[in-house]
Amino acid sequence: MLTIEDLSFSYGTIQTLHGVSATMSPGRVTCVIGRNGVGKTTLMKLIMGTLRSDAGTIRIDDHVCLANRELSVNLTNRPASQRARQGVALVPQGRQIFPKLSVADNLRVGLEAIRPRTRHVPQEIYDLFPILWDNRLRPGGNLSGGMQQQLAIARALVSNPRVLLLDEPTEGIQPNIIQQIGEVLGNLVAERNMTVVLVEQYLDFVKEFGHDFYIMNRGRVTAGGETSELTQELISTYLSV
Ligand SMILES: Nc1ncnc2c1ncn2[C@@H]1O[C@H](COP(=O)(O)OP(=O)(O)O)[C@@H](O)[C@H]1O
Ligand SMILES: [Mg+2]
Repeated sequence: MLTIEDLSFSYGTIQTLHGVSATMSPGRVTCVIGRNGVGKTTLMKLIMGTLRSDAGTIRIDDHVCLANRELSVNLTNRPASQRARQGVALVPQGRQIFPKLSVADNLRVGLEAIRPRTRHVPQEIYDLFPILWDNRLRPGGNLSGGMQQQLAIARALVSNPRVLLLDEPTEGIQPNIIQQIGEVLGNLVAERNMTVVLVEQYLDFVKEFGHDFYIMNRGRVTAGGETSELTQELISTYLSV
C-alpha cells in the first residue's frame, strides 16, 4: 500500500500542490486524472523523489518483503535512488528514452536501481514485450513512439518494483499498442500484486484498465472512488475542456 498524506509543494513561490492525500493499493491500478497543469506530474515526481515535498509524508506498507526491501518504509526524506531500491519506479511523461543507446542498453539503465549490481536484463522483461527483444540492438531513438513507450515501461520494470508510476503512457500512441500496454498493466497487478499508479487523460483507458481513481484540480484532490463510479457529472466538471 502506498500512502501519501497532506503533500504540499511549491515551484519557487508558486504553490502547486495543496495537501494532497491518497492511498494506492497493491493489486490495483489507481488512476490520477485531471486537466493539464493541475499537478499530476508534480505528484509523480514527489512520489519518485526527483522533487522533494515541502510538507506531508509518503510511505509504503507491504505484506511481502523482498530482498533488501523494508516491510514498512517512510520514503518522505529519502533520495530517489533509495526509493528506487525500495521498489518505486517511474515511467516519465514523454518517455525519456536515451535516443543513442540501444534498446538493451536503455533497459540496463533501469538496472542501476538494483543492489547488488547486475548488467543482466531478465528474460521475463523481453517476454512481456517481445518486440523489444526483436529490436534490442536498435538505437532507442529509431523506434516508433509506441515502441519507445513499451521500452520506457520495460526499463521501469527491470528492477521488479512494487510501486509502478506511469505518467500519461498513452499520449501519442497508436491504439493497438495502447491495448497491449493496458494488458501488461493488468497482468502486473493480477500476477505480481503490484501497486500501479496511472496518470491518464484518456478516459476509455481509465475505465477499461483502472480500478480506483483520484481527480485532481488546481493542486488538490477533488474526488475519488472506484472507476465504475466515475460519473458523467465528475467528468464534465473536472475533465472536459
Ligand atoms: N519546473 C517547473 N517550474 C515551475 N512551474 C512548473 C514546473 N513544472 C510544472 N510547473 C507548473 O506546475 C503546475 C502543475 O504542473 P504539472 O504537475 O506538470 O501538471 P500536469 O502534469 O497535471 O499537467 C503547472 O501550472 C505548471 O505550469
Ligand atoms: Mg503532466
